[in-house]
Amino acid sequence: MNIILLGAPGAGKGTQAAKLVAEYDIAHISTGDILRAAVKAQTPLGIEAQSFMDKGELVPDSVVIGLVRERLQEKDTARGFILDGFPRTTTQAVALASVLNELGRNIDAVVAVDVDPEVIVARLNTRRLCRMCGHIGSASDTSCQVCNGEMYQRDDDKPETVRNRLEVYAKQTAPLIDYYRGADLLIEVDGEQPVEQVFAEISKALK
Ligand code: AP5
Ligand code: MG
Repeated sequence: MNIILLGAPGAGKGTQAAKLVAEYDIAHISTGDILRAAVKAQTPLGIEAQSFMDKGELVPDSVVIGLVRERLQEKDTARGFILDGFPRTTTQAVALASVLNELGRNIDAVVAVDVDPEVIVARLNTRRLCRMCGHIGSASDTSCQVCNGEMYQRDDDKPETVRNRLEVYAKQTAPLIDYYRGADLLIEVDGEQPVEQVFAEISKALK
């Protein structure tokens, strides 16, 4: 099963990706996670990406397309994959189609998780992540519920950066919903339901 997860910042892509990975035993490819790891390690990629991420802007297409192209050739994607946060522009979507064509693979479904921007601002204000295992939690967690690691807030979850990320999403990424509807791949889910209900709706649609 090869899936794309589309949705605004904070829509719940990472939360649903973790559940889908467990259910289908497929690879989780989050461009945001890959870029954050590169920033942390201060690799050339991380140094280039950091200035864009800090402002809530998109990292240039050529950079992100290159890293997804490489990631899709790793062995663990053979059983299937979830692309979380990629593609985010029409250029990325067209490049993905071409990479998949070269690799003789295809996308089975594009899941678009829909959440109102006001709900998102509140969610991201209280989101916390585990430094050790990446578990997504909230401000009420004093430590990670999975591994007891320390929880932290992402730099780009400050309210002014979140507002810019939402604008960037509306302008550059939301048009992909129509793009994939046109390709007859789109599954739309209401992301304001409880996590388990969103997951149940996605699972049912994927069957
Ligand atoms: P990225 O890491 O992809 O961030 P994002 O798209 O902004 O999305 P988030 O990770 O913030 O949210 P999410 O949808 O995963 O929500 P989550 O499950 O955590 O990208 C970061 C940056 O990297 C970009 O701004 C850009 O600079 C760069 N980048 C990445 N990919 C790129 C690309 N392809 N091209 C160019 N640049 C790129 O949930 C959020 C919160 O809500 C959590 O607290 C969670 O517990 C809670 N929650 C989740 N579901 C529910 C629910 N159903 N009900 C109640 N609460 C819920
Ligand atoms: Mg995420």
